[in-house]
Amino acid sequence: MVTSNLKNLILHRLKEKREYVSGEELSNSLGVSRTAVWKHINELRKEGYNIESSSRKGYRLIELPDILDERELYVPEGQHIGRELIHFDEIDSTNNHAKKIANDGCPHGTVVVAERQTLGRGRVGRLWQSDNNQGLWFSIVLRPDLEPEQVQIITLAASVAVVEGIFRDLGINCGIKWPNDIILGNSKLCGILTELSAEPGHVNYVVVGIGINVNQSFSEFDADIQDKATSLQIHAGKKISRVKLLAGILTCFEEMYNKVLEKNTKDIIDRWNKYSVTLDREVKIVSRDMEYIATAQSVAPDGKLVVKCKDGTVREISAGEVQV
Ligand code: BTN
Repeated sequence: MVTSNLKNLILHRLKEKREYVSGEELSNSLGVSRTAVWKHINELRKEGYNIESSSRKGYRLIELPDILDERELYVPEGQHIGRELIHFDEIDSTNNHAKKIANDGCPHGTVVVAERQTLGRGRVGRLWQSDNNQGLWFSIVLRPDLEPEQVQIITLAASVAVVEGIFRDLGINCGIKWPNDIILGNSKLCGILTELSAEPGHVNYVVVGIGINVNQSFSEFDADIQDKATSLQIHAGKKISRVKLLAGILTCFEEMYNKVLEKNTKDIIDRWNKYSVTLDREVKIVSRDMEYIATAQSVAPDGKLVVKCKDGTVREISAGEVQV
């Protein structure tokens, strides 16, 4: 028997029973020696499974680890998201890997998730601190039948999915700061980096990369972001299960993605507006040759921010130009 299979079978038995299972019962039912059972139990412990042992009663699973691999992560049964899950302990960037496998033809809906990123990327060439296993760092590969100009709606849908996934799981209300930052209080909780491969009139694939600060304490954030960043644990005052949260967000993403395909743009934008902390606020527009203050009014289906200038003119602004 392949040893990783044996380990998973032992784990399966312990999960099924949640009571003590004797070493003898495991070794007999799996047809291996008790030493082999003991060896695999120790490996599971090293992977973070809390397994109690008693010389008389055997082994009992006490607690599951918060690891985002296919053994623990429940992926919603839907048509699109997460039919394939790729997990890394460490990778440079889940977006980089997602783009690579998308170019090689991976299925629509593939999710790439990592415990840590060594080169997490943010918008406009910034770095995204994700060198720890305290957050959710993942990317989703999509192959939508959309025009390249329509893809921005997917980022809006993703922002809504994150806000609703967090609320459903934890009852915490977050806001969306245009273009696609998720904020909690006044600090940044999550960022979304959408990347696109397209030709005129045709989208090859879209990669939606999502980074959420989950269990970091303030001191774990790099000094330069400590006054801007927050995590769910800081807000809730307790450790959060990343496995459960990610499953919930993927479920919400599936729901929102169906709205994208149904062209139910209105519902997506209405929800986005409901969570927006940008609308009705003054924003500073910095374009190449001028700077001015305007009031944010709405978001257009192509993701542009509609602002009203002091002289009453209405303009559509794209992401690089605005300081909210
Ligand atoms: C931002 O600048 O606000 C966007 C941050 C996006 C970070 C996520 S983490 C998972 C995915 N992989 C990356 O390298 N970036 C995105």
